[in-house]
Amino acid sequence: MGAVFDEIVGDIETKSHRPVWMMRQAGRYLPEYRAVRSKFSNFMDFCFHPQAATEVTLQPIARFGFDAAIMFSDILVIPQALGQKVWFVSGEGPKLGPLPSLDDMEKRLESGAVINHLSKVYTAITMTRAELKQNTDLIGFCGGPWTLITYMIEGGSSSNYHQALDLADKNQQFFDRLMALVEKAVVHHLVAQIKAGANLVQVFDSWAGGIPGHKARQRWSFDPLMKIADEVGKFAPTVLFAKGLAIELAQNKQAAWSQHGGKVAVAIGQDQGFDAVRRHLPDNIATQGNIDPQLMVGDWSLLKQKTGKLLQGMASKNRHVINLGHGITPNAKVDNVQRWVEYIQEYPR
Ligand code: CP3
Repeated sequence: MGAVFDEIVGDIETKSHRPVWMMRQAGRYLPEYRAVRSKFSNFMDFCFHPQAATEVTLQPIARFGFDAAIMFSDILVIPQALGQKVWFVSGEGPKLGPLPSLDDMEKRLESGAVINHLSKVYTAITMTRAELKQNTDLIGFCGGPWTLITYMIEGGSSSNYHQALDLADKNQQFFDRLMALVEKAVVHHLVAQIKAGANLVQVFDSWAGGIPGHKARQRWSFDPLMKIADEVGKFAPTVLFAKGLAIELAQNKQAAWSQHGGKVAVAIGQDQGFDAVRRHLPDNIATQGNIDPQLMVGDWSLLKQKTGKLLQGMASKNRHVINLGHGITPNAKVDNVQRWVEYIQEYPR
């Protein structure tokens, strides 16, 4: 296992530095990624091409020496596996066709058609694992149920999640059934990724911050995320990313954090403070984050200063994986990433 896994499970006594990886580390800021990307007109075809997905997953490891690779794929492979059409329009982002009936989606899940559709992702994981050094972790991932449902209902990205919220309000029975279905698909997909060779996983509930009111956030984000972590945590550690809500998630009393020690970690966005989140969590729960991705676009001096402050501010017993608060952007400077990884891996624990 690698240093990210060890940090989360608490095997930290002998470690000289904090582990580091980066959300979207295989992405458009890298010229070698763009070269592979340009061979595919359809982004989903790229996601389902095991050789290409393996190649781009390994690119940032070869270049920067991150402590973990994250398998190149997308959260929208799940709606597609459930039978919904998914495509990407350049400059606009993802688009989804009409939502299939619940009966049809349930049938696909129960018959194994969903996992079968995703088999190329598992092939890519096994291929990537074979290429990685033993001490580099391989992270599998999927979207949080709420985030996936916003795409499935809205038919693409949305700024206000109006249709999803409206459905949750007006047709609770339908919404609850959809939520349970997506939750199940997520668990199946994460466990299959672990069986294929991922040694930890992350759930991206990136749009949970758009749910209005604490009670609704508990019901549609935190409760499903903890249920997923309970199931998947039996197989591998699970990092939960509820963007903008790390403090509220950490405060979640129902989570009974200490019982999840070593099995769950909380990812923090750049909009939430490390101390403010850490305060609510026991020492046996790791955190991850939370450098502002915009700092990767600017001067190294400011990125270094902010990263130094984060490293300096944590106690050596705090289990923490250095990461960005959200995905690196296409205009980030490759040189910043290079210096950032070196700086973190040379910074004494
Ligand atoms: O982190 C990694 O290196 C692994 C790869 C990864 C991708 N998507 C590849 C990708 C991960 C972890 C994701 C997750 C994902 N996908 C999320 C959750 C994380 C987050 O950003 O909050 C979401 C919401 C999506 C859905 C999605 N896929 C969007 C909104 C977009 C951007 C559309 C655009 O054109 O900017 C994508 C496309 C996508 N997924 C890209 C990458 C590298 C860029 C598209 C490209 O290369 O053409």
